[in-house]
Amino acid sequence: MTRSSQIIAGNWKMNLTLSQGREFVATLKSYLEKGSVSRRVLLAPNFTLLAELAGLCAGSGIMLAAQNCAPQESGAFTGETSVAMLKDAGASHVLVGHSERRQIFGEDDSLLCAKLGAVARAGLVPILCVGETLEQRREGRALEIVISQLQADLVEFTEGELIVAYEPVWAIGTGQTATPADASDMHAGIREFLLERFAFGREIPILYGGSAKPDNAAELLAQPEINGLLVGGASLRPETFWQIITA
Ligand code: PGA
Repeated sequence: MTRSSQIIAGNWKMNLTLSQGREFVATLKSYLEKGSVSRRVLLAPNFTLLAELAGLCAGSGIMLAAQNCAPQESGAFTGETSVAMLKDAGASHVLVGHSERRQIFGEDDSLLCAKLGAVARAGLVPILCVGETLEQRREGRALEIVISQLQADLVEFTEGELIVAYEPVWAIGTGQTATPADASDMHAGIREFLLERFAFGREIPILYGGSAKPDNAAELLAQPEINGLLVGGASLRPETFWQIITA
């Protein structure tokens, strides 16, 4: 498995308890032990599961991401979780700017830029999520919106590992997936931006997210600039998640 292998990431959101998470990882590990997979596997469980799952995943190749973090390093921020704490718990990656954070919790680009900086300074890998709404797509502004999010959220980012996830808001949790052609066009646009912005732009994986499932995974993963998938609903059961990993 190389750094350029495709990445299949499961975003559990606010689902699965500790015992369900343990069971999931045990099953996934049993699948991984049987077959050889060329893709890299990552799980983003809730904070409360991270430390325990890190122990269970050690040596299995399964990487762990946190779903969110505080932009501050430490201090009087009741209810927040710092990047140092996430690293300590065993996370190697952190989701930044998932559309649910942007839309439900009102996270704007300046906050996301600060979060991304905190993740990068701690030596963890930010997974920056971007995507347009249905209205913006209908207005023909999808690419413009996505590029403006990238510009704003990455304004202070100069070096280090980074992953970008393109997640059209209208495709998340709706069962409506972007067509491989639409996703592919957007990924090409994102790649162009990354190549212009960073000398290492070619190495930044671009994941697709939004109702990815066993039925559509193979076709999406066959697109030249789709370097992996960020899976929500279909990552909650090890059987379906495994079908995607091996699609
Ligand atoms: P979904 O979620 O696969 O359930 O659409 C994807 C995501 O929000 O990351």
